[in-house]
Amino acid sequence: MEKDTANYKDYTLLSYHHIPGVHNIDVFERAGGYEMMKKWVGAEPETIKEEVKQSGLRGRGGAGFPTGVKWGFFTKDRAAKKYLLCNADESEPGTFKDRFLVEKNPHILIEGMIISAWALGTQKGYIYIRGEFYQQAVILEKALKEAYAKGYLGKNIMGKGFDFDLYVHRGAGAYICGEETGMISSLEGKKGQPKLKPPFPAIKGYRGLPTMVNNVESLAAVPWIMRFGAAEYKKFGTEKSAGTKLFSISGDVNKPGVIEVPLGTTLKEIIEVHCGGMRNGNKLKAVIPGGSSSPVLNADDSYAVKMDYEDVASKGSMLGSGAIVVIDETRNMGDILKYTLEFYHHESCGQCTPCREGTGWMESIFKRRESGKAQKSDIELLDKTAASMRGQTICALADAAAMPTQGMIKFFRPELETYVTTNVNSNKR
Ligand code: NAI
Ligand code: SF4
Repeated sequence: MEKDTANYKDYTLLSYHHIPGVHNIDVFERAGGYEMMKKWVGAEPETIKEEVKQSGLRGRGGAGFPTGVKWGFFTKDRAAKKYLLCNADESEPGTFKDRFLVEKNPHILIEGMIISAWALGTQKGYIYIRGEFYQQAVILEKALKEAYAKGYLGKNIMGKGFDFDLYVHRGAGAYICGEETGMISSLEGKKGQPKLKPPFPAIKGYRGLPTMVNNVESLAAVPWIMRFGAAEYKKFGTEKSAGTKLFSISGDVNKPGVIEVPLGTTLKEIIEVHCGGMRNGNKLKAVIPGGSSSPVLNADDSYAVKMDYEDVASKGSMLGSGAIVVIDETRNMGDILKYTLEFYHHESCGQCTPCREGTGWMESIFKRRESGKAQKSDIELLDKTAASMRGQTICALADAAAMPTQGMIKFFRPELETYVTTNVNSNKR
């Protein structure tokens, strides 16, 4: 693939963010935006798909499934009705990178979606954005209008005989609508409840038709890959976790926020260099590395881990959506687990008994604490309940509640036992 002479760093996902007004199409284009759309729409679709596959890009929503492989499952019949669905629901507690990306630079996503739509032969696309992201939805709507006005969306795009309509669809604030089949149900106007997979949406999705669901960050990475090529992309990151990745960092650091670094960057570097170190110089106690559904890492593992899919998994957790929550010595892990379990119980859609009842049972242990009735042995019960929920349900929400619970018990059992048996009033901050 022909290599652009420009500096690759000028085109990473966050490199546009410092340009004033880059959410306006003219400013984005002056910075090199839409060049790849102009170059690749009309080109051989298989070349684009192969480049994305070779790049090793893995789904940035959390699962890390190879994007190019997923694209390979999609029908090659260009005349067949099918959809491209961008998952901008971003509901995982701790995750705010997609919001940051579209808020400052909506056009990078739109450009990525147009190239992807051409490669996949989809005629219609949707950006499903979570209900709470009202401002970001307005920004995206405005950006879409600009792209339509330039002839980059709609009928016969740039005179190349390609039709692609793109819409923003706002969710109504349910976590489960970020699960791709729940999202599709919601988009269809039904209750946002997940469906059993297979069939995967790539085969049978929106309105029963093939639907390619990709995360915001994954789609926004496509223009970079098509500008510099798969080989250049693979120079970032590790062998199995290629490219740069956005991380949302919150918690007890001096500079929380969103950063973009190559996969494989150590968590120590992220905390100490990119986030300015621990807040008030406090000691690190633990880190949730990939959003609330990922098991916690203790301080030793946190300082040793590299933030790529394999290394985080080797420590018993997962990279997930790259939502890093840093926890210092002043925090009680009981509080964190309590809030996490309240969240998952509230967000369970209720279809599966192990999830509906299990999340309720787990939360109830903390409710018993409030009435002074919880016992030390409840933590063992919590562990057993979590274990019995895993792998038994339609979607991953039950696992998302069970895994962090078991991870927390693994490292902090005595602290949790003390927490549930301590008079609730003595623990108030
Ligand atoms: P998954 O592993 O079931 O699927 C990942 C993707 O690959 C899906 O798009 C799926 O359709 C596709 N896929 C897998 N096998 C396929 C096959 N044989 N044929 C066609 N397509 C195939 O994971 P899931 O349930 O979609 O996502 C779970 C992850 O989501 C969690 O690990 C968590 O990190 C993340 N998550 C992210 C949130 C956020 O706000 N970003 C919120 C909640 C969870
Ligand atoms: Fe609904 Fe929970 Fe079953 Fe997922 S696991 S479908 S959220 S009940």
